[in-house]
Amino acid sequence: MTRRPMMAANWKMNKTIREAQEYTAALLPRAADSEDVDVVVCVPFTCLHEVGRMAGDSTVIAGAQNFYHEDSGAYTGEVSAPMLLDVEAGAVIVGHSERREVFGETDDMVARKAKRAVEAGILPIVCVGETKEERDAGDMWEKVSGQVGQVLEELEDAGGESLVFAYEPIWAIGTGDTATPEDAQDAIGKIRDLLRETQGDDFAASVRILYGGSVKPENAAEIMAQEGIDGALVGGASLEVESFVELIGAAQNAVAQTEQ
Ligand code: PGA
Repeated sequence: MTRRPMMAANWKMNKTIREAQEYTAALLPRAADSEDVDVVVCVPFTCLHEVGRMAGDSTVIAGAQNFYHEDSGAYTGEVSAPMLLDVEAGAVIVGHSERREVFGETDDMVARKAKRAVEAGILPIVCVGETKEERDAGDMWEKVSGQVGQVLEELEDAGGESLVFAYEPIWAIGTGDTATPEDAQDAIGKIRDLLRETQGDDFAASVRILYGGSVKPENAAEIMAQEGIDGALVGGASLEVESFVELIGAAQNAVAQTEQ
């Protein structure tokens, strides 16, 4: 089974609507050149309607960076899955380490969000990853397998193509300190083995697993060349459209190389 590579931008808390319009207008024709890559742009809620409208039927998928698993009600400050569908979001980041660390999201909350997104037909990009202390203590896999396992328990009979995992070691996010391609591949390989053991071969073969953490044009080719790494979730280097286009190009080249 071949999985379509994905290049996903995470703008975090950046850009006004005007800036989002300029970026999206520049991105759309360039993304269309990379027809073998799924391009996702996860933007602040305030920009989502506009980016979703501009993306329309193009190959670019507009995504959110978070949502709440209930559909409506007394949840001040939150946005629901039906609201995301209303603005044509096709994807949503779930459980980003900044949500977990700054806003106190637990594995249980993350798992509920992943489940609700899948039910709603919005592709969740579920983030997992360890801190530096956990890695140094040899606890990387205990942490990551716990995070992945809780999501899988909630999912029941969802198909593997209905969600994406992003392995994002916390010490590599926004630090310029990328995991070595081998470390990234090792963690991602372990995640896929866990998917196979718990959900079966077809599920494991169809889930896309991205790497995230200081991905930039200089290291993208090497990361994308690793067997089993299906793409990247990119923060800082996605903010400039030219740099994000280069990353999409690296994913497209990786496809071309495996086809040779
Ligand atoms: P970074 O962020 O690319 O700036 O390290 C990645 C992320 O937080 O998703």
